[in-house]
Amino acid sequence: PYPAFHSLQQNSPVHRTLMPDGHYAWIVTRYEDAVNVLKDQRFIKDFTVFLDEESRAQAHQSIFSRNMLFADPPDHKRLRGLVQQAFTPRIIEELRGRITEIANELIDDMQDRSQIDLIDDFAFPLPIIVICEMLGVPSEDRDKFRTWSNTLVEASNDPEKAEKVQQHMQEFTAYLQEWMADRQENPQNDMISKLIQAEESGDRLSEQELYGVVSLLIIAGHETTVNLISNGMYALMTHPEQMRKLQEQPDLLRPAIEEMLRFEGPVEFSTDRWASETVELQGQTIHRGEHVLVALDAANRDPEAFEDPDVFDITRGRSKHLAFGKGMHFCLGAPLARVEAEVSLQTLLERFPDLQLSTDVSDLEWRPGILMRGLMELPVRLK
Ligand code: HEM
Repeated sequence: PYPAFHSLQQNSPVHRTLMPDGHYAWIVTRYEDAVNVLKDQRFIKDFTVFLDEESRAQAHQSIFSRNMLFADPPDHKRLRGLVQQAFTPRIIEELRGRITEIANELIDDMQDRSQIDLIDDFAFPLPIIVICEMLGVPSEDRDKFRTWSNTLVEASNDPEKAEKVQQHMQEFTAYLQEWMADRQENPQNDMISKLIQAEESGDRLSEQELYGVVSLLIIAGHETTVNLISNGMYALMTHPEQMRKLQEQPDLLRPAIEEMLRFEGPVEFSTDRWASETVELQGQTIHRGEHVLVALDAANRDPEAFEDPDVFDITRGRSKHLAFGKGMHFCLGAPLARVEAEVSLQTLLERFPDLQLSTDVSDLEWRPGILMRGLMELPVRLK
């Protein structure tokens, strides 16, 4: 997408375009505009304010509708606050040991093979196991969560899949209801029990809001870090001099991950924003109710914000990239994603120092849909 992004940045930085589902959206591609839009509270998340009461009630029935990502102040703070306590850098740091164990177990399973798909065999399962353990999802149910999570993301790419989405959402809701009822009676040391207890102690989240937050965490845990690990390894393997540098200077690991987030950010576009009033931006007039999308991966390669933006350089140092968004909706899971990526890269490179791409770069395929930036497969030779 990058040549197209650069062309938009130069010729039409706030660009009105027809979306696959037949409506128009404004695409913002320059870094400075991206930051301004993400911080500007005139661009709101809850589009249901534009609907009549009946349509609004209907929209709120969806299990995924009542969560922080689709909420504005003052609701947003309440919806985010409760979960935030479980995602502070300190708490996440305590998970590093367990995450390292999971990474090593996944690698132990590859020992006898010379070639693997780094996505299917490693990058995908690792964050799923972690988020499921944090929430308290029994391991035998993980596959179901994978299916439901895929469906929710597909739904945003393809409106024609509505029927399948409906069915999977019913299954998912039924599962959540039963699971939460069980934890209410038998609390465990997991996030779901804590959320339920907090609810009882007065930090009110409605039942619908609890479903919303749990499904958001499950989706975020399934669909994003996989792309950070795999896009990052892809960048390293296609830039062998950077790979060597990292192997010679392991303390470059953290800046390397920030550069991976900038260079091939897992989330290509922000989620939807809507103008709550008329806003002028780069000479364009965005009217109330119009849809705005920030191209995060474009902003991260804006030549006005980053020198030689198309060069992958793990020694850039402190990065102001927007891969985790900006402002109020800044990624809640960023500390977790960073630790997962650090552990993954470190463990992979320690155990397979000669890891190499085992296919032609031109044969690699990116996943369809504009929301996520991730490869379908990443075949690698281990030794
Ligand atoms: C929000 C990216 C991993 C939970 C966001 C946003 C971005 C993002 C760009 C803001 C979207 C917007 O403003 O429209 C990423 C990336 C990840 C990642 C690149 C991995 C490399 C995770 C993980 C979790 C998580 C592992 C939790 C398990 C969330 C939540 C929000 C969010 C709850 C909503 C925050 C709010 O609305 O206040 N993420 N994310 N993310 N992310 Fe992540």
